[in-house]
Amino acid sequence: MSLVIADPGAVDPALFEQLMRTAQACLELEGVPVPCFAALTLTDNADIQAINKERRGIDRPTDVLSFPAVAYANGQTARDARQKLLRGWDADEHAAFLGDIVISTEKACEQAHAYGHPYAREVCYLLAHGMLHVMGYDHVKKEDQETMRKMEEAALSSAQVATSVLDGELLALARQAMQRSYSPYSHFKVGACLLSQDGRTYVGSNIENAAYGATNCAERTAVFTAVHDGAREFAAIAIAAEKAAPWPCGVCRQVLSEFCADLRVLVTWGDGEVAESTLAQLLPHSFSPASGVADLLGKE
Ligand code: THU
Repeated sequence: MSLVIADPGAVDPALFEQLMRTAQACLELEGVPVPCFAALTLTDNADIQAINKERRGIDRPTDVLSFPAVAYANGQTARDARQKLLRGWDADEHAAFLGDIVISTEKACEQAHAYGHPYAREVCYLLAHGMLHVMGYDHVKKEDQETMRKMEEAALSSAQVATSVLDGELLALARQAMQRSYSPYSHFKVGACLLSQDGRTYVGSNIENAAYGATNCAERTAVFTAVHDGAREFAAIAIAAEKAAPWPCGVCRQVLSEFCADLRVLVTWGDGEVAESTLAQLLPHSFSPASGVADLLGKE
């Protein structure tokens, strides 16, 4: 294995696969002369800050830290360091140990938000960066920084780490979800597909009830499924209906605003009509967790 992840059970299986592929892609790009592996720890800001302080004397959190196990000569990288790598041969892994990489998933989440790409992509990017460091790369000089940047992009693309879920996919998933609607009273089928910041999608449809008020809208079915699955940060929602533009109802806008100050809202109907807005536009001046209700309750 090219990567040994501490506490692998705690890692989302889809992310796990992408991390493995990213590490493998980095080794292949480098053309390592013997099988190699790195050890990855995914942690939070407080923990990475403690490590940063202890190992580097820098008392602040960071996104990624790498600790090469090999003492590369100036300008040398793993491909030219066969003998040195063999000194770190690990009999259990049947591979040479490159070093430790630590990533703050909390920082990764913040950065994914800031860059507007999936969380999984950010974590994989940070892993690629760490892999290059443990293979002897650094970014002190501008040209070295450019080399690293190019290799990181190449690794992510060869590992097929998605840049983003495309709007077309989201809309198609919402249309599919619409087919699962239970709407014997209104005959108004609605489907929704919610995209989490880490690139996962959650679908839902409207589920009606003989007591009309007990009906659940498609959007809320999707939100509740997502939150139940542990997703709390969202990037977009696509909503599909047959007859008219299914802009979310007031209750759904309010439920969405509990989990995100803003997100893209795409609607599709009829013969492939599409329109787009944002939650902030659809629910201005909203009452949300940011309104301080938790403070009033004396909670965090
Ligand atoms: N509906 C949704 O699923 N989402 C909305 O945002 C608006 C309305 C459903 C509820 C009901 O089953 C049907 O559409 C007609 O109101």
